[in-house]
Amino acid sequence: MAWYDTHKRDLPWRSEGRRDPYKVWVSEIMLQQTRVEAVKSYYTNWMEHFPDIPTLASAKEEDVMRQWQGLGYYSRARNLHTAVREVMETYGGKVPDTREGICKLKGIGEYTAGAILSMAYGKRETAVDGNVLRVFARIYKIEDNILSAKVKKEITALVEARQDALRPGDFNEALMDLGATVCIPGQPRCEVCPLADVCQSKREGKEMEIPLRITNKEVPVEPVTVFVVRTHGNGSTVSVLRKLSEPTGVRQWPMAGQDTADPSICYLLHRRPAKGLLAGMWEFPNCVGEAGSGKAALKGMLAEIGVEIKKVSRPVQQIKHVFSHKIWQMVVCEAVAEETDELPSEWRWVTAEEIADYNLAGPHNKILGMIHQ
Ligand code: ADE
Repeated sequence: MAWYDTHKRDLPWRSEGRRDPYKVWVSEIMLQQTRVEAVKSYYTNWMEHFPDIPTLASAKEEDVMRQWQGLGYYSRARNLHTAVREVMETYGGKVPDTREGICKLKGIGEYTAGAILSMAYGKRETAVDGNVLRVFARIYKIEDNILSAKVKKEITALVEARQDALRPGDFNEALMDLGATVCIPGQPRCEVCPLADVCQSKREGKEMEIPLRITNKEVPVEPVTVFVVRTHGNGSTVSVLRKLSEPTGVRQWPMAGQDTADPSICYLLHRRPAKGLLAGMWEFPNCVGEAGSGKAALKGMLAEIGVEIKKVSRPVQQIKHVFSHKIWQMVVCEAVAEETDELPSEWRWVTAEEIADYNLAGPHNKILGMIHQ
């Protein structure tokens, strides 16, 4: 808790003391499957349009969807809208204050219920998300599959036993911040961790091996070739991509203490179609196919929008991304092009700094960690 008091992230949905349950609810739904950086501006806009439950309940569906546009996973917005209307009709506009009551609302599971109960109602409830699972699996050196129901139950019991009696909401958020900024996937930053001395995985040098994630479904593997297309900037020919030692984790962005590369370099981003997988999210240019055929196909695709690739590197990195129904085996290359004045509306040239404001699709978010800033 002392670590949290000095290191907590300053986020628009955080305020001192108890909070409005509606605000916790909206922020937690937005934060499911979306990075904190991308959620910030959506949350602030949302609260300007729909500051409370009655306003959202009476809003038109198309207005609600418009405010969600670009966040992706649109069923989250539809469920939130339905559930808020239910709160008006069934609970007189007040979010229920029991786990049982909250969990009956559409789109709210155990995690979100725990977040609302602890952060808004000050109840001693847990909110176990992926961050919390990872932090506890490491501290207690839990070597079983983190995706199993058994391990989740075991960890939830451990979190319950450790919960702070006076500030349960802060306790839950402290674990999330620790997981998101220090006890990160892949290679954790143990040197700045307040719990390094008590971490059993660290003691045995197993912090990179834990948590173990095993999916039991056989899913198809799809090869994907990705270009990080950049401009010359001030004529720099130095590669801007560095190989990640452990590419499995989502990196913090911006990376602290990294070299500063030419800030005039721009990167090409593409917005995915409004429907389908990772709808409306941004990505680096890519196409399905092994690097061999993929490189030529991508060059052709980019030529069609007027972007002529001058140089392409060999594959710099392989990144695996596991969806529930398929696996992307991505090969990332660096490509250099001239900046073009005009692009179709779903394409943009952006600087490294600006990328943080784009809601990148999860698998592409991993690539961010490869770019020198
Ligand atoms: N991720 C999900 N919920 C969060 C919260 N309340 N604070 C920070 N990161 C989060």
